[in-house]
Amino acid sequence: MDVHKRLILQNKAWAEEQQEKNPELFKELASGQHPKFLWIGCSDSRVPVNEITDTHSGDIFVHRNIANMVVHTDLNLLSVLQYAVQVLKVEHIIVCGHYGCGGVKAAFEHNNLGLLNKWLRNIKDVYRLHQSEIEEIKDEDARINKFIELNVEEQALNLAKTSIVQQAWADGQKLLLHGWVFDISTGLVHDRKLIDNGDDLDPIYKYDIDSGVQY
Ligand code: CO
Repeated sequence: MDVHKRLILQNKAWAEEQQEKNPELFKELASGQHPKFLWIGCSDSRVPVNEITDTHSGDIFVHRNIANMVVHTDLNLLSVLQYAVQVLKVEHIIVCGHYGCGGVKAAFEHNNLGLLNKWLRNIKDVYRLHQSEIEEIKDEDARINKFIELNVEEQALNLAKTSIVQQAWADGQKLLLHGWVFDISTGLVHDRKLIDNGDDLDPIYKYDIDSGVQY
């Protein structure tokens, strides 16, 4: 059997099983979503958010890209962010990277990868920001792990630099930004960073926000 047909069959079995466990489930899900979390994760197939956090449909609004980047010109990410914050009113945004991230490793190297160069450039910029801290680590795996940790911390900061997040804070909306790293070899998440206001943000990134006006 073609592998894609197997997915359809597995979906049918799953839907029947869910229906048996909770006959109201799909009716409830179809009526709307009220997730408390926005997840910005890597596209890597080994980091499936609902599975690793033991959560369910409706719990987490999700955006994924290569190396879980928050790029301030990425209309896709920004649209997800705006909808999550202003409409769904999520209370937590989690940027979750993972050890062994191929995107971060590729940014560490010098291969010419065409279009991918443009995406990986954003990660190289994180390297340049923290170059001395990364390069003082002699072991190569440990050095890449450090780069991965610094990358999630930097992406959480990038969220704080957006007018969308600053607007939510100005309006008194509860909104916590988290930087996590998932360890594929243990299945465990490491909590690296928490930002609950813009106090530590470099002033150059702060906007004059009028409370109640959303963009
Ligand atoms: Co990755």
